[in-house]
Amino acid sequence: MRRFEDKVVIVTGGGSGIGEASSLRFAAEGAAVGVNDINPDGANSVVEQIRSAGGKAIPLVADVSDEAAVEGMVAATVAEFGGLDVIHNNAALLSRDVLSRDLDLGGVRPRGLLQLTMPSTCSARC
Ligand SMILES: NC(=O)c1ccc[n+]([C@@H]2O[C@H](COP(=O)([O-])OP(=O)(O)OC[C@H]3O[C@@H](n4cnc5c(N)ncnc54)[C@H](O)[C@@H]3O)[C@@H](O)[C@H]2O)c1
Repeated sequence: MRRFEDKVVIVTGGGSGIGEASSLRFAAEGAAVGVNDINPDGANSVVEQIRSAGGKAIPLVADVSDEAAVEGMVAATVAEFGGLDVIHNNAALLSRDVLSRDLDLGGVRPRGLLQLTMPSTCSARC
């Protein structure tokens, strides 16, 4: 028995990187996958890979910062697969500018924490 047999999953930002790998793995584990991405080529390519391997998937081209678009992709998923069990909320815009602002939010300076811990984690794992 595959671990996500008969489950319905949406992966946001599923058209590349970690989202692509997650979409393929959910499908390999038996899930029907709604592959969301703002980039239609990425979403369609991952859906093709899943279908070629015998899995079920639909592309959900939408910007996750647009509430109406998110409602639409959830509705499309439920209409196609009859429900929704899991959302992997993976999408992100990884520009240097955005990362820099995110890392300094909240006054806790997580960027400093990263800078301090990276050498140790890298020497242990890289
Ligand atoms: N790669 C890393 O080292 C790393 C480390 C820690 C956390 N993360 C997190 O993992 C997640 C995925 O990272 P990744 O490296 O695979 O990134 P990636 O850039 O390869 O993939 C992100 C995907 O999200 C899509 N996307 C961007 N904005 C979107 C939007 N508004 N609506 C819908 N889709 C959108 C992009 O088109 C892209 O396909 C991100 O949340 C990132 O912050 C990544």
